[in-house]
Amino acid sequence: MRHSNPSAELAMFMVSPLLLLRYGVGNVHCSTDHENSEDFHSLLDFKKDITDDPNGALSNWTSKTHFCPWNGVTCTLRPPSCVKELILPGQNLAGQISPSLGNLTCLNLLDLSTNNFHGLGLYENNLTGVIPPRIGLLTKLEELLLYGNNLYGVIPPGIGNITCLSIIDLLENQLDGAIPSKNNLTGGIPRTPSNLSSLLELSLAFNNLGNTLPSSFGNAIPNLQNLYLGYNSFEGHIPASLGNASGLTDLVLSANNIMGQIPNIFGKLSGLCLLNLEQNMLEARDSAGWEFFDALTNCSSLSELALDANNLQGVIPTSIANLSTNLTYLLLSENHLYGIVPSSIGKLNGLISLSLGYNSFTATIGEWVGKLTNLQNLILTDNYFVARETFSL
Ligand SMILES: *[C@@H]1O[C@H](CO)[C@@H](O)[C@H](O)[C@H]1NC(C)=O
Ligand SMILES: *[C@@H]1O[C@H](CO)[C@@H](O)[C@H](O)[C@H]1NC(C)=O
Ligand SMILES: *[C@@H]1O[C@H](CO)[C@@H](O)[C@H](O)[C@H]1NC(C)=O
Ligand SMILES: *[C@@H]1O[C@H](CO)[C@@H](O)[C@H](O)[C@H]1NC(C)=O
Ligand SMILES: *[C@@H]1O[C@H](CO)[C@@H](O)[C@H](O)[C@H]1NC(C)=O
Ligand SMILES: *[C@@H]1O[C@H](CO)[C@@H](O)[C@H](O)[C@H]1NC(C)=O
Ligand SMILES: *[C@@H]1O[C@H](CO)[C@@H](O)[C@H](O)[C@H]1NC(C)=O
Ligand SMILES: *[C@@H]1O[C@H](CO)[C@@H](O)[C@H](O)[C@H]1NC(C)=O
Ligand SMILES: *[C@@H]1O[C@H](CO)[C@@H](O)[C@H](O)[C@H]1NC(C)=O
Ligand SMILES: *[C@@H]1O[C@H](CO)[C@@H](O)[C@H](O)[C@H]1NC(C)=O
Repeated sequence: MRHSNPSAELAMFMVSPLLLLRYGVGNVHCSTDHENSEDFHSLLDFKKDITDDPNGALSNWTSKTHFCPWNGVTCTLRPPSCVKELILPGQNLAGQISPSLGNLTCLNLLDLSTNNFHGLGLYENNLTGVIPPRIGLLTKLEELLLYGNNLYGVIPPGIGNITCLSIIDLLENQLDGAIPSKNNLTGGIPRTPSNLSSLLELSLAFNNLGNTLPSSFGNAIPNLQNLYLGYNSFEGHIPASLGNASGLTDLVLSANNIMGQIPNIFGKLSGLCLLNLEQNMLEARDSAGWEFFDALTNCSSLSELALDANNLQGVIPTSIANLSTNLTYLLLSENHLYGIVPSSIGKLNGLISLSLGYNSFTATIGEWVGKLTNLQNLILTDNYFVARETFSL
């Protein structure tokens, strides 16, 4: 759902003035081959991706000599030789930074600052350590993709100073079937997020982030479309300012420790497609607590609504009938709902999945169930439904 801007993607940015990444050292083994052909080929692959080298910084990187004396390269003192440092700042090198650098298993200092590299995909690289606080100095950065690493520590507040950022993705990647290597970021979202008006997507799911979401958070992200914060340790309330993030289509706060009432703000998010608040401690105890549900009837594109495993109490409001007919997933299981399931739920004919299990619903299962002709999953287990009358599909 994100719109990429081709000219922005092609745009070169100066990595300035410092990009210093420390790779984890210690648990790595250098090749026992004295020539260490892996480092040799990794460096040549790095050179291959350089499209412009106006100073000839890599001119003596040739197969005629061992790689250790190559310009910018420092090797370990003890054999077998292994690239320990690669330092090439201020050389006006252009092109992309080759992923082959990931094979330099002894590397502990990489300084490619003040060049003309573009692209900064450092995702799925087994990077360890913290995100360098000075990343905020990369003021032209448009995408920060660090998912699938072993990063820990806090998200540097300086990220808020990068006004061009359109995507921050620090998510654990589980899509490729590999054993996921999680990031383990702690801390929270910077207390006073500055103007992130370029940001379209923020993925921080599957980390260890905590604290409350800053109350003004939503005001800093007016154009954000996708916000994925699931599987962290966020606490406190859902900030009402999220109602000002009017570009939101996907909002996922699942599996955190968020509490309190669900604010009555979603009616302002007319483009909302996915709202996933499951596995929190959100509560609805009275009609005020259920007002959010009425507000959701404004979201005419709402397709997935997950409120399961919270502390919603009472009867389902009859306004359920006015939820979007585009709704395909409605998950309300594992709450404290009781009473009769409103028959008007039968109007939600687009439903593919309906989960009402582990509540205290009573009475018979009404005719509504027969109207939901697109259902593929229906979970009604662990309630007090009675099967007294005829029940036919
Ligand atoms: C490569 O260039 C660097 C910098 O000029 C120099 O220090 C180094 O000795 C050169 N290495 C070889 C093998 O020529
Ligand atoms: C890293 O090394 C492995 C084994 O030599 C090789 O298969 C792989 O292509 C290398 N990766 C990169 C990005 O060069
Ligand atoms: C990732 O790094 C850790 C330690 O830094 C190491 O034990 C592990 O083997 C690495 N994994 C891969 C896939 O390189
Ligand atoms: C953000 O930029 C301002 C102005 O350049 C600077 O004063 C501030 O320290 C920066 N904040 C962080 C967290 O880097
Ligand atoms: C994540 O970080 C916390 C605090 O630094 C630490 O206690 C915990 O063991 C880490 N978890 C993993 C999976 O590395
Ligand atoms: C945020 O930045 C955008 C573009 O840089 C600007 O148009 C907008 O006025 C700024 N908003 C605030 C509240 O500073
Ligand atoms: C939403 O934005 C308006 C206009 O900028 C502002 O007055 C209001 O305080 C914001 N709401 C919240 C809850 O921050
Ligand atoms: C629903 O949308 C209308 C029109 O956009 C707006 O005036 C109203 O305030 C919204 N309702 C809620 C509860 O947000
Ligand atoms: C409902 O879903 C259909 C099919 O996905 C889509 O074409 C239509 O625009 C959606 N309606 C709204 C109001 O979003
Ligand atoms: C559903 O919406 C209609 C039209 O806006 C309104 O008249 C009706 O009262 C609503 N029903 C419920 C149960 O909220």
